[in-house]
Amino acid sequence: MSQLTKSQAWQALQAHHKTLARIHLRELFEQEPGRFDRFSFDLGDLFVDCSKNRVTNRTMALLLELAGDAELEHWIDRLFSGERINGSEGRAAGHVALRHRGDTPFPVDGADAMPAIKEVLARLRSFVDAVRDGGWSGHSGARITDVVSIGIGGSCLGPQLAVQALRAPGERGPRLHFVANVDGEEIAAALAGLEPATTLFVIISKTFTTAETMMNAAAARRWFEARSGGGTFARHCAAVTADRAAALAFGIDAGAVFEIWDWVGGRYSLWSAVGLPVALAVGFERFAELLDGAHAMDEHFRSTALNKNLPVTLALIGIWYVNFFGAASRAVIPYDRRLRRLPAYLQQLEMESNGKQVTRDGEPIDYATAPIIWGEPGTDGQHAFFQALHQGRQLVPVDFVAAARSAEPGAQHDALIANCLAQGEALMRGRTAEEVRLDLAARSKSGAEIDRLLPHLTMPGNVPSNMLLLRRLDARGLGMLLALHEHKTFVQSVIWRLNPFDQWGVELGKTLAGVIQSELSGAAAAHDSSTAGLIQRVRRMRE
Ligand code: F6P
Repeated sequence: MSQLTKSQAWQALQAHHKTLARIHLRELFEQEPGRFDRFSFDLGDLFVDCSKNRVTNRTMALLLELAGDAELEHWIDRLFSGERINGSEGRAAGHVALRHRGDTPFPVDGADAMPAIKEVLARLRSFVDAVRDGGWSGHSGARITDVVSIGIGGSCLGPQLAVQALRAPGERGPRLHFVANVDGEEIAAALAGLEPATTLFVIISKTFTTAETMMNAAAARRWFEARSGGGTFARHCAAVTADRAAALAFGIDAGAVFEIWDWVGGRYSLWSAVGLPVALAVGFERFAELLDGAHAMDEHFRSTALNKNLPVTLALIGIWYVNFFGAASRAVIPYDRRLRRLPAYLQQLEMESNGKQVTRDGEPIDYATAPIIWGEPGTDGQHAFFQALHQGRQLVPVDFVAAARSAEPGAQHDALIANCLAQGEALMRGRTAEEVRLDLAARSKSGAEIDRLLPHLTMPGNVPSNMLLLRRLDARGLGMLLALHEHKTFVQSVIWRLNPFDQWGVELGKTLAGVIQSELSGAAAAHDSSTAGLIQRVRRMRE
């Protein structure tokens, strides 16, 4: 047994779970009329209702004991002091410095990181303004109308999410296209209809070695050189990377290479120059508002008592379901199509961070960690997988995300929000046999028919959810929302005693793919019979 599972708080939570598992959310609401106020957080642009969770004051008190045992406050201090808390890679995790505002210093790894951060942001701003105003034009002097951002994982998901969320259709500034996958269909689709003379490529890769990104970057350059009639590729390419020399060697102009640092993790990098596509799409000012929003959440996180702290509360509630209810997954359902990449973004953030098998000290972990994050926008999901949320046998806690105001107000937005609220209520309440009986009787069904339908139409309810409600989906609100999840993930990592800032598991697949790629075109190597058979089969099917 690990220290964590042996701890008094853990054992007390296990015992407490036995009691609470029998109590329905309906009862909790009946017992506590002030429950909504007790379990909701008003942070101005972001309101979060956690009252539809299977928790009581006692649950929260015990979960806070877990946080105390894990020395959470000390770890929060370490994060904001820029210490090397990424032990296995020997690095700090400096993403909070990236959105530090004002003129005070912010230490990362023992030195003030602000001069370098501000210098890159200033260069980024000039570049963005020049591209958007036409001062930076293509080789023929034509204005840049399209930007193709090439990068994968954290070098794509954050910028893509933010551009989709913030850029209104027809807005001023270049159109953004994202290419992540090594699948050649993706870059072909992005380039279809584009003109080399008016296209700018932005290559985003911290390492500048990621195979997918390098292949796509090479494909982009080939496309440009084949069609531009001798245009200078350097006029059409920028890079964001920690390896400046590699970007220069690729042929990118020194003035268009923007640094990130080894203490910026890929999935925490939106706030750095990795946000370049966002600034190009919506302007530097709104990118700065995104940083403001994240900073506001940082301030809340670092200075609010743990029992009133939103990221801490969401993290503790998440742990409650994963470790005590055995919930293997969590659904994230944005009722806003502009947030359609939010589930994918959170998938990387939470699963790449906390999907670990050993503690930060290398001890085996004997408890579940990162739940599977999945989801699709509502209302689409209602007509697909919601059936399993309502009547399936697995507990899937849900996070709803919506914006009270819309760029498209009116009946359709009202319907969207109504559906979101209704689903939260339905999952919580369910429908009792008595309610079904009354309903069917009111619809003149016979007694026999009511008995036949009853088991099918009743719904257990008691499915917990959080409601994350933005005033409107703007840059500041989005910054708050994403930083909230970063900190929530961090809190969980502290309680689970693991390092959320490395990702060694991803490396194995990268190595194996390289070997098999050479075998597809001839070379032979030893594999299990399945893999060897499949390599042969692909080769034969291509003949
Ligand atoms: O998939 C692993 C990973 O290292 C992610 O953590 C990262 O976001 C992504 O690859 C891209 O890495 P890079 O920015 O170095 O190309």
